[in-house]
Amino acid sequence: MFEIASVSALEILDSRSRPTLQVTVTLADGTTADAGVPSGASTGTREAVELRDGDTDRYGGLGVRTARDHVDGEISAALQGRSWSSLADVDEALRALDGTPAKARLGANSIIGTSMALARALAVSARTPLYASLPGVGRSPRLPVPCFNVLNGGVHAPNPLDFQEFMISPLGAPSLAEAVRAGAEVYAALRRRLADGGHTTGLGDEGGFAPDLAEPTDVLRLIVDAITDAGYTPGTDGVAIALDPASSEFQQADGTYSVNGRPYSSDDMIALYTQLVDDFPVWSIEDGLSESDRAGWQRLTAALGERIQLVGDDIFCTNPAIIREAIGDGIGNAALIKVNQIGTVTETLAAMRVCHEAGYAQMVSHRSGETPDTFIADLAVATGCGQIKTGAPARGERVAKYNRLIRIEAETGLPYGLR
Ligand code: PGA
Ligand code: ZN
Repeated sequence: MFEIASVSALEILDSRSRPTLQVTVTLADGTTADAGVPSGASTGTREAVELRDGDTDRYGGLGVRTARDHVDGEISAALQGRSWSSLADVDEALRALDGTPAKARLGANSIIGTSMALARALAVSARTPLYASLPGVGRSPRLPVPCFNVLNGGVHAPNPLDFQEFMISPLGAPSLAEAVRAGAEVYAALRRRLADGGHTTGLGDEGGFAPDLAEPTDVLRLIVDAITDAGYTPGTDGVAIALDPASSEFQQADGTYSVNGRPYSSDDMIALYTQLVDDFPVWSIEDGLSESDRAGWQRLTAALGERIQLVGDDIFCTNPAIIREAIGDGIGNAALIKVNQIGTVTETLAAMRVCHEAGYAQMVSHRSGETPDTFIADLAVATGCGQIKTGAPARGERVAKYNRLIRIEAETGLPYGLR
C-alpha cells in the first residue's frame, strides 16, 4: 500500500520545440519521480486525446497549460489522501476520473504523464530499477532488438519521400551493446554514402537522415550498401531492414496511395511490398496500409504474414479492445506499443498481454516528439517483448533510450534478441 502526497506538472518543450508535460509525483514517503510525455505527428484517429490549449497566442495553439492545470488541480486532488494498492489501482481511478472513452476531458497527456511518473516513483520507493518493478505480461525480461530509424520521410521530414521510416534492426547481434554499435556504424556508413552521392545529411524529426530522395527502392539500396560498408551482413543473420511507411499519411481521398507521384491501389501496394521483400532484407513492415483500409490489411496479412512481421500502429492505437477485434479479423501479426496512444501504463500492459496471448509480436515505440525520458526502455525490458524502436542512434532524446538499455544490460546480463 502507498499514498500519494502530490502530483504536479510543468509545460516543457519536446524535441520538436512543441510544448509537452513533465509530470512529477511525490509519494507520502517523500519519494519524488517525474516523467516526460511523448507526442506524435502521424497519429491514428482512435488514439487517446492529447489535450492542447488551442490558444493561438501561445505556441500556435499547442500549449498544454490546460492539461498542466488538470494535473495540478483535479488529478492531484483525486489521488491524495487515501491509500492505493497498485499502479493499476491508480490508473483505473484516473480513467474513471476522466470519464470519457478517449481521455478527452483531462487529456491523455495529463494522464499518461501521471501514470509514468507514478510507476517510476513506486520503483524508486521500493529501491528497485523500473524494469524490475513494472508489472510484466507473463514473460521473462530481455533486452529488445533496437530498430534504428536511419532515414526519415513522410511527415517527419521536409523531403519528397512518402515512406516515413527506414529502420535497421541488428537481429544477428550477440548483445544489446553490439546491436547499438552496429546501428551507429551503419548510420555513419550511410552518412558517408549520402555525402558521396551529393545528398544533404541533415536530420528529420527522429534523427534519421532526410535527403532529397523520393523513391523507396533508392533508399533501400543505399541502406543495404551502408550495412555492407560497415562490415555487417544484410539480412536476419546480421542487420535487417524494417519499414514504417505510415501509409495513412499518403492515402488520398479516393482511397488510393500516392508513392513518388504514382497512384497505387491497396493491391498495388501489396504487390509493391512483396517486391520489396523479395529484393531487399525487409523483415518488418508497419502501417503498410492505412488505418481505414481493413480489407486491404486482411489481404496484406494473407499475402505476407507468413514471411514477415506486419505491425499495426495507426490501426491498433495500443488499444486492447481494438487490437482484440483486429486479431479476430486477421489483421497484421504484431502491434506497435506507444504509451500515450492509450494513456495509462496499465492499459499499455493490457494491450501487450492481448497480443502475447494471440501470438502477436509487440514493438515498444517512442513518438516523433520526445523528451529525454527513458521509460520505454524499461518497459520493453520488463515485458520481454524483444523489440523497440526509438529513432536514430543520434540526437539526445533518442540516444537516451538506447543508452538506458546499455545500462540495463550491464546491470543484469539479460538475454538479447527477438522472442
Ligand atoms: P509519430 O510517428 O510519433 O509521429 O506518430 C511514429 C510512428 O508512426 O510510428
Ligand atoms: Zn508508425
